[in-house]
Amino acid sequence: MSCSLRPVGRAHRERLEQLTRGTGLFRESEVGTAVELLDASLGERGSDDYRFVGAFDRNELLGYACWGPTPGTEGTWDLYWIVVDRARQGSGIGTQLLTEVEGRLRMDGGRLVVVETSSRADYAATRGFYQARGYTRAATIPGYYAPGDDLVIYTKDLTDGDLARTAS
Ligand SMILES: CC(C)(COP(=O)(O)OP(=O)(O)OC[C@H]1O[C@@H](n2cnc3c(N)ncnc32)[C@H](O)[C@@H]1OP(=O)(O)O)[C@@H](O)C(=O)NCCC(=O)NCCS
Repeated sequence: MSCSLRPVGRAHRERLEQLTRGTGLFRESEVGTAVELLDASLGERGSDDYRFVGAFDRNELLGYACWGPTPGTEGTWDLYWIVVDRARQGSGIGTQLLTEVEGRLRMDGGRLVVVETSSRADYAATRGFYQARGYTRAATIPGYYAPGDDLVIYTKDLTDGDLARTAS
């Protein structure tokens, strides 16, 4: 299905929280972090550190992505969150969101996208999603999240193989 992609506003805060919790994948503290990042992006000073785009069916938020510039780098960006309503997963919404984020990053001179995820078995589909969309498993930190739950870092070169040359 094709959604309309729009900013996520304050009116969608509760729905964003439900969506994130509803995946069944995230710890409660992580759900809280997603909401905090939305709040930061909507705050009075409108932090540019965290940017959101939502996928909507009419006015219903079905998924979102959150990303921001990686501090201390040139052209490296973190994709902090990408979440699709559990009932709508596998219908192309995640791909639509990821394509949108990558397009915006290219416009912003982005070179490298970094995504952190988990080694847990219940994240296998998530890892498959990134790998099928050009992300390379770049690093693993064993036991990072919890015993037996490793941090897996994926990266994507947005420069068509020119990363080494453009990194001065
Ligand atoms: C990962 C996620 C954002 C992908 O979004 P999506 O809308 O389901 O993805 P799409 O429909 O565009 O693409 C489906 C692809 O993702 C994979 N996938 C991931 N989770 C899936 C699910 N629950 N059902 C079906 N496919 C899933 C499939 O392998 C499929 O790959 P293929 O198209 O190459 O066969 C979404 O499944 C999700 O919210 N997962 C839970 C939260 C999560 O893991 N977020 C990332 C945190 S690091």
